[in-house]
Amino acid sequence: MKLLVTGGAGYIGSITSELLLDAGHEVHIFDNLGRGHRKGVDDRASLIIGDLGNRADIRKAMLEVRPDAVLHFAAYALVGESMECPEMYFDNNLIGGIHLADAMIEAGVKKIIFSSTCATYGQPETMPMTEDLPQLPQNPYGESKLMLERVLQWYEKLHGICPVFLRYFNACGATGKFGEDHEPETHLIPLILQVPLGKRKKVFIFGDDYDTPDGTCIRDYIHISDLAQAHILALNEGISGAFNLGNGGGFSVKEVIEVARKVCGHPIPAETAARRPGDPARLIASAERAHSVLGWKPQYPDIKTIVEHAWQWHQAHPNGYED
Ligand code: UFG
Repeated sequence: MKLLVTGGAGYIGSITSELLLDAGHEVHIFDNLGRGHRKGVDDRASLIIGDLGNRADIRKAMLEVRPDAVLHFAAYALVGESMECPEMYFDNNLIGGIHLADAMIEAGVKKIIFSSTCATYGQPETMPMTEDLPQLPQNPYGESKLMLERVLQWYEKLHGICPVFLRYFNACGATGKFGEDHEPETHLIPLILQVPLGKRKKVFIFGDDYDTPDGTCIRDYIHISDLAQAHILALNEGISGAFNLGNGGGFSVKEVIEVARKVCGHPIPAETAARRPGDPARLIASAERAHSVLGWKPQYPDIKTIVEHAWQWHQAHPNGYED
């Protein structure tokens, strides 16, 4: 298929593009390189530098490429930042997404695979989390993603587009080629790995008084290659609707640090700090729908393998894409 990938220079977009190309698809990346990296763009893809905030940029790209489908990754994705600067999130994630959807309608493009998030649910009372739970986001990031889901649902009814919402849990790990390089970095695994890399002395545990067995937050860590595979499956004819993407198991912050100590052979000192505002105690996916409808089967569910792959990439790229 001929595909337009927004945000294809970012972490999840770069690796999904790599796997799409491996699978024989034609990939055109649309990215403003604001938070993405030119070196994260696969050589086999074309790069269109443009900004979703500028309606004309995406309209031009869409009409030129006329893809069979769009994969939409381009967005801000930091919960904490969204609490401080909500306008950035509604502007980039919602308005930018509407510009994209409008350009699709004009060009007659029907299918869109949208990077959504488990942050659209807030903190549900039942675990594991299924797609039919109420969506009650606790931060502007989750809200901006939910709002775009809603817009796309209306466009489905009224304009006949076919959206697929992939609600990610905690994306992590790397391929041999591409990995995670955020500035600033706020994610747990890359921050832990900065200790054995000699870039920080210790890692902070944000709260150890949660209602979990060891008191630290539990997340469902999903390998980036497995996430990418779900996108490839979602392109199949007849697929639409929402899918949670996680492994269905949870690991606490302390457990992840312990795994990293073993993988890296380093003591990785850790210090307990205050809770981070907006952090739910426990987020675990039920990915049953993705298994049964998409035929998705994660290849790397083991947290140790996930951390090993991240560690291999960070050792090879100690300064991220700056090397
Ligand atoms: N944490 C620490 N110390 C750190 C960094 C993180 O203890 O230095 C903790 C956090 O408090 C949290 C857990 O590690 O409990 C995971 O934090 P991340 O920042 O790695 O990931 P989040 O779960 O906060 O957020 C991620 C994505 C979001 C997405 C969300 C869905 O960044 O885009 O998962 O849960 F919305």
